Amino acid sequence: MNQKRILVTGGTGYIGSHTVVELQQSGFEVSIIDNLSNSNIAVVDQIEKISGIRPNFSKLDLLNKKGLFDYFENKETFDCVIHFAAFKAVGESVEKPLLYYKNNLMGLLNLLQAMLANKVNNLVFSSSCTVYGQPEKLPVTEASPLLPANSPYGNTKRIAEEIIRDTTNANSDLHSISLRYFNPVGAHESAMIGELPNGIPNNLMPFITQTAIGKREILNVFGNDYHTADGTAIRDYIHVVDLAKAHIVALNRLLNNEIKSNFEIFNIGTGRGYSVLEVINAFEKSTGININWKYSPRRAGDIEQIWADSSISNQILNWKANKSLEEMIISAWEWEKSLSK
Ligand code: UFG
Repeated sequence: MNQKRILVTGGTGYIGSHTVVELQQSGFEVSIIDNLSNSNIAVVDQIEKISGIRPNFSKLDLLNKKGLFDYFENKETFDCVIHFAAFKAVGESVEKPLLYYKNNLMGLLNLLQAMLANKVNNLVFSSSCTVYGQPEKLPVTEASPLLPANSPYGNTKRIAEEIIRDTTNANSDLHSISLRYFNPVGAHESAMIGELPNGIPNNLMPFITQTAIGKREILNVFGNDYHTADGTAIRDYIHVVDLAKAHIVALNRLLNNEIKSNFEIFNIGTGRGYSVLEVINAFEKSTGININWKYSPRRAGDIEQIWADSSISNQILNWKANKSLEEMIISAWEWEKSLSK
């Protein structure tokens, strides 16, 4: 059987690198393009150490349209593209909206054009539960209304889905699945790849692990007056390896022509929400390390609570998140410790 060839944009990033490993372990041949703006070339070595296979790597920016077209033309064709490459810092997107619209949307347009020109007809897109805004009804299903995004970043994900939908409508050969991720945390069990925040982490889990190891003095818990049991905000945290595996399932669905429409959307979460305090307490219990934390005002743009109804993914994709909050925490902590070795 011919080995299927998959192009992963943003494949040296956090979710991308974990997905590359799962792809290789599922027998796919992987090529990565990444501009390394928020990742490190050493990740390619780490991937090789885990899987025993070196992915093809090219440093390439999706905004470099000519470079991208040349890349596609010089390669044998790809069976599918998994598109991660994008900026993702919510706060930064509020400060620099044009940077976000340009990078995330122009990058997608160039990629779709290169795919169409080269008859690459399958795309898995990295979307986010941020497209739901603050839902009125919880948990959110794929049919929940898309409320105005809280940030330009979130808006780029919503608009990107619309661009993909319109493009699949206009090109019947093009098929796409969009995965709406909830909050990915944790790291590969090898502790050889994980989340590498640039500077001060924005996200909760890396901030917790950096506080625990002494890189940060104190964790700010943003808001204790939300309408939740303990007053802190609730999210659906999902282990990054469970999330990576969802891409393999989506990919196989595309390759086996099992899709029911040209553009399908799936929620990828656990279906269980945890408050910020519950995550801190779980970290302390799992590791035996006390976190220095204090309440701070709410963070601008944060929603109060969200968690997924993933039953459609469970049934139709036959995918389910398996890993517990404790496994997320332990793997994130092992990764943090490995960075100090
Ligand atoms: N939080 C803190 N202190 C921190 C960091 C975070 O209390 O130092 C809180 C936040 O206020 C929020 C929760 O922890 O209530 C989770 O925050 P994250 O920044 O980890 O995650 P977000 O839910 O804000 O954002 C994440 C991704 C986005 C994605 C979004 C979808 O970072 O890319 O989920 O909801 F769009």
